[in-house]
Amino acid sequence: MTTEIQSMMSQFRPGFCQPDCVEQDCPSFTCPPPGIIPLRRGDFIAESISNNLFWLRIMMEHALFMRLGFACVNIDLINEAQQYEQAYTRQLNQARAVASAPTEQSVRALNQESIELTQSFACFKTMVLDRILTCGPAKIGGYNFPLLIDHIRREAVAFVSRLEALQTGRVEPLALTIVRDQTFWHRIMADHAKFIVHLLDPSERGFVDQANSFSVLFDNKRFQALDLKSMLEPNFAIYPILKRFTRDSLQAAMQIRDFKAAVTELIAECELLSVIPELLADHVRREAERFVETMQQRLHELSQV
Ligand SMILES: [Fe+2]
Ligand SMILES: [Fe+2]
Repeated sequence: MTTEIQSMMSQFRPGFCQPDCVEQDCPSFTCPPPGIIPLRRGDFIAESISNNLFWLRIMMEHALFMRLGFACVNIDLINEAQQYEQAYTRQLNQARAVASAPTEQSVRALNQESIELTQSFACFKTMVLDRILTCGPAKIGGYNFPLLIDHIRREAVAFVSRLEALQTGRVEPLALTIVRDQTFWHRIMADHAKFIVHLLDPSERGFVDQANSFSVLFDNKRFQALDLKSMLEPNFAIYPILKRFTRDSLQAAMQIRDFKAAVTELIAECELLSVIPELLADHVRREAERFVETMQQRLHELSQV
């Protein structure tokens, strides 16, 4: 092994860790790797800019959706959500300014500000979820599904986690990145399908059936990705199955993206019965597009191994 690969490997701690465990539950023993494990290190400037431009807009819209979903008596929560909306608008403008002439220093500062803002926003989402789940005087009503708040909190945590990896230069096996991207996005897509089912007018039977099918498809794909992750532990070597699995995920991602694009267009033309705001339809369409782009990028990285 070259010194560079040895030092990169020392940044990754292989081990057995089921996704439903907290870190303390993961056993510390490992097994000798079958050979050299391909590692992935992101391009600091390009990936930082791309993550900020994509996720800051998404976070700003989460604040807007939360605000619209609160009961009108919860003025304090409505105001707090609006403050996040404004903070993300400013941060997105800052990201666009940095993106026009990025330097390592300006990108690093931007990442740090986005991390701090999003950690705070994830805590706001947690507080709101606690108040939805609780029973007693602190309980809030409104129209924000508990799964929606959990879902948008997972998206915030994923954004923070990606930026922290870039800030610290953390590297990990390419196979781990690929299965983790898939378990994350499959779950997000399955949730979207469920939200669409519940926000469509019940009379729209054909669209309800299609959305239900996507929910089943992506739940299954997530379980399949979790099985694969389990098989690849602890070393995350690359095997041919990973390529086919990623190709299949790309296919499914394109299908749900096209479905969401069709739904967004029908909503814009007032030709679909639902309580889905056009911005929400477009929001989930953009997330599906991000999933498509991520799978295309991973297939490209696999072809370089
Ligand atoms: Fe989102
Ligand atoms: Fe989402």
